[in-house]
Amino acid sequence: MALYLLCLVLSTTLVFNFLQTLADTSCTDCFIQSRATYYPNSEDNGTDGACGFGSFGATLNGGDVSAASNLYRDGVGCGACYQVRCTNSAFCSDKGSTVVITDQGSSDNTDFILSQRAFGRMAQTTDAAASLLALGVVGIEYRRVACSYPNKNITFKIDESSGNPHYLAFVIRYQQGRRDITAVQLCETQNFVCKLLDRSHGAVWTTTSAPSGPLSVRMLFSDEEGGEETWVVPVNDIPQDWKAGDIYDSGVQVNQ
Ligand SMILES: *[C@@H]1O[C@H](CO)[C@@H](O)[C@H](O)[C@H]1NC(C)=O
Ligand SMILES: *[C@@H]1O[C@H](CO)[C@@H](O)[C@H](O)[C@H]1NC(C)=O
Repeated sequence: MALYLLCLVLSTTLVFNFLQTLADTSCTDCFIQSRATYYPNSEDNGTDGACGFGSFGATLNGGDVSAASNLYRDGVGCGACYQVRCTNSAFCSDKGSTVVITDQGSSDNTDFILSQRAFGRMAQTTDAAASLLALGVVGIEYRRVACSYPNKNITFKIDESSGNPHYLAFVIRYQQGRRDITAVQLCETQNFVCKLLDRSHGAVWTTTSAPSGPLSVRMLFSDEEGGEETWVVPVNDIPQDWKAGDIYDSGVQVNQ
């Protein structure tokens, strides 16, 4: 009898593990249960945030932005988009909000700290939004979705901390799709000698020894699941006389 019970427990565990594996591998579009709150003292929009997007990060995606805790992934998660919908059927819409990660943070076991605007937009009506905001922390479900920036190419914003030629820091903006930028190479355009850059924090890439001449920034796009990786090569170079604060259009965009 004891042996029989042991076998039953073992086989149940095996079946459970098998189903779990199946669920993990076949469910990139499934919603994951969690909790969300909102920035207590923010305006409608988000804050400048840990990703290094600056004030641009507060108004990106119309201000539908969020801080993430685990999903921040040491900055790799910066710029990723999620559909987040609350689960209280009295107040919440099916669609929820689509937010871009611009910051790192957690509060009371939350995966997301949304801008007030994005938090309110999970509701069916303005009245329901007020009720949601009054709750403070709500049960949600979320899934990764493709980011979309109609009529935008990927751009490079040279960080204010930069000084040509000794220190180059820049942020990558308007990355569409649902892949991560996991590496960035800076190439000089005469001999195509390239060097890998450091992610200093968030979405900020830096080097203390930028080559001279026009610069080509190559970005490695990776699936979160560790699948296919693609180097994307911009059409436009960053000009030799780049300046802190300037924004350069790469001339390319990704859709996956
Ligand atoms: C919030 O973002 C929207 C959209 O970019 C912008 O029009 C608005 O001025 C922002 N509000 C504040 C308080 O920054
Ligand atoms: C995007 O880049 C292409 C060149 O690759 C250019 O023709 C187009 O004008 C750019 N779009 C914007 C919005 O700057």
